[in-house]
Amino acid sequence: MAEEAILGYLQHNEEIKDSGEFAAERNIDHNEIVNVIKSLHGFRYVDAEDIKRETWVLTDEGKTYTATGSPEFQLFNAIPPEGIPKDELQKKLDPSVFKIGCAQAAKNKWVEMGKQLVTRKVQNVDDKVKGLLLQIQQGQGIGSDDIKALKARKLIVPQTWKGYSVRKGPNYAPKRKQVVTDLTRENFQSGEWKELEFKEYNYSAKGAPLEGGHLHPLLKVRAQLKQIFLCMGFEEMPTNNFVESSFWNFDALFQPQQHPARDSHDTFFLDAPSTTKRLPEDYVERVKQIHETGGYESRGYVYDWKREEANKNLLRTHTTAVSSRMLYQLAQKPFAPKKYFSIDRVFRNEAVDRTHLAEFHQIEGLVCDRGLTLCDLIGVLHDFFSHLGMTKLKFKPAYNPYTEPSMEIFSYHEGFKKWVEVGNSGMFRPEMLRPMGLPEDVQVIAWGLSLERPTMILYGIDNIRDLFGPKVDLGLIKKNSICRLGIN
Ligand code: PHE
Repeated sequence: MAEEAILGYLQHNEEIKDSGEFAAERNIDHNEIVNVIKSLHGFRYVDAEDIKRETWVLTDEGKTYTATGSPEFQLFNAIPPEGIPKDELQKKLDPSVFKIGCAQAAKNKWVEMGKQLVTRKVQNVDDKVKGLLLQIQQGQGIGSDDIKALKARKLIVPQTWKGYSVRKGPNYAPKRKQVVTDLTRENFQSGEWKELEFKEYNYSAKGAPLEGGHLHPLLKVRAQLKQIFLCMGFEEMPTNNFVESSFWNFDALFQPQQHPARDSHDTFFLDAPSTTKRLPEDYVERVKQIHETGGYESRGYVYDWKREEANKNLLRTHTTAVSSRMLYQLAQKPFAPKKYFSIDRVFRNEAVDRTHLAEFHQIEGLVCDRGLTLCDLIGVLHDFFSHLGMTKLKFKPAYNPYTEPSMEIFSYHEGFKKWVEVGNSGMFRPEMLRPMGLPEDVQVIAWGLSLERPTMILYGIDNIRDLFGPKVDLGLIKKNSICRLGIN
């Protein structure tokens, strides 16, 4: 309706001077008229020019008085001809009406505020304020002094009114033509294509946002770490088994069966299948021996090693379980040096807090060769961590059942201005390597760290639950920057 009105009017008239008046005369909502003008303008049916006008609109208080009358009028009407004590008058009126009413009525000289009585000074009054407010509401102009007074009483506020003046545009037609957006087979067959008018391309329209996959920060950092390992000549170990036997997770690593980490308080054991089916029997026998009575110059732990304990299935507590399988396999062939790495998930029965979850990711690297020393480990660690942008490292003696010596790795964080623990490392014990069948002069240096720690530092996340788990904000995953290690 609005479109017909505009195009129809322009057919016989030069100009629509004011879209506001045009809308009011035809009883069409001004917003609707504005939308149609914009659309017609887009297709050049019309040319439009902005009009801005300062107008006045009623505040909520102003609107109230159009119904109730002004406070001074209400107050005047509440005074009987014989007058009324002030406190009684007050009781008859709303507190704000009383307060404003007294002030305004006195100013207008409508009432006498006597010591005992409030009395009328005039017979009749005219509620001018209400009248003015109604006029403004109806869009009529009022005098500037009245505007000033109403504005001072906060009964009206200014508002900018926006509308258009409209003339015929270069593509003007009394009726909008249907423009075509697609050319079809039928258009060709019927010959209709010759007459069709096509919608023009809008080169400045924004395209639909591209929605591709979005990588989680952990995956981005993982990809970069993988690249670092590959550049350093490491091969990736297959980590695609979350379920592991206690044997590979603990026993093969010379971790005694009564070690506290093997308790259900620390490790998730499986109910079904609760035990592993297959283990390499001759190797199991050698592992049992090293635990019970030792060998290769070790005294062992001197306890009764139980096969049932080794058979128990669990969710692997570290990726070193994978390393132990890989080293065992390596030992089954003529020896060749190897550099291996893995980055995957591990599980621990931990109390969940802002820095701990019951599952996380471990990064692990190992080098297996003849004659390796602690210096080689320190050298490899410097090399590896420098790729992550961590060039200042310190090492602190530590303990792992499967490494000797063992070292915790600290890196100086320039942002935090302090040393932060970034990993754990060591040389695998002969008690672990020799039963596997690795030659006597072969050493393995290894280290491990979590993927979450560097990711949180890189992305400035301080609560692990914002990084991983059900509370993660998917919007953030989409917006996160690409990860670039080494720039900190
Ligand atoms: N497995 C160790 C951990 O869970 C890390 C580690 C790996 C330590 C290799 C020494 C050697 O913390």
